[in-house]
Amino acid sequence: MTQDKAEHHVIFASTILLLLFLGLSLFVASIVRANPGPDTAAGKATFQTKCAMCHGPDGGGSEVGKSMNVPDLRSQAVQKLSDAELAQIISNGKGGMPAFKDSLSEDQIHGLVSHIRTLRQKK
Ligand code: HEC
Repeated sequence: MTQDKAEHHVIFASTILLLLFLGLSLFVASIVRANPGPDTAAGKATFQTKCAMCHGPDGGGSEVGKSMNVPDLRSQAVQKLSDAELAQIISNGKGGMPAFKDSLSEDQIHGLVSHIRTLRQKK
């Protein structure tokens, strides 16, 4: 009987610990999601000043952009490109897309790539 009780205590204590742990993980996950990091905030700002005139504030394409046939940055076609490919296109340009390697730092370009990734989630 006492043996049984002790076992119950162990099970009870582990359940509490497990719940605490789960709660903590969810809490941390929500903080991480709420703060995507300075990289993304800077990327968003750069996007608005350098890219939105053609790609629109949400990546869907501005009026000017649509007349140039810009691809929707939220689309699968663009999102399936790797980070390296996106960075390369932003640096060197492509078709009607201007090259930015002279006007943006590597950090800024990486920030833009992170920002483009967040556009997909908002769809
Ligand atoms: C002058 C208008 C213009 C500006 C400014 C501009 N783009 Fe583009 N962008 C284009 C056009 C046009 C294309 C389509 C190029 C093609 O496929 O021929 C494009 C394509 C792209 C693509 C997708 C390429 C692919 O292969 O699907 C990405 C990613 C992109 N732009 C990111 C950016 C970012 C980031 C900025 C800001 C640093 C930016 N663009 C600024 C016009 C622009």
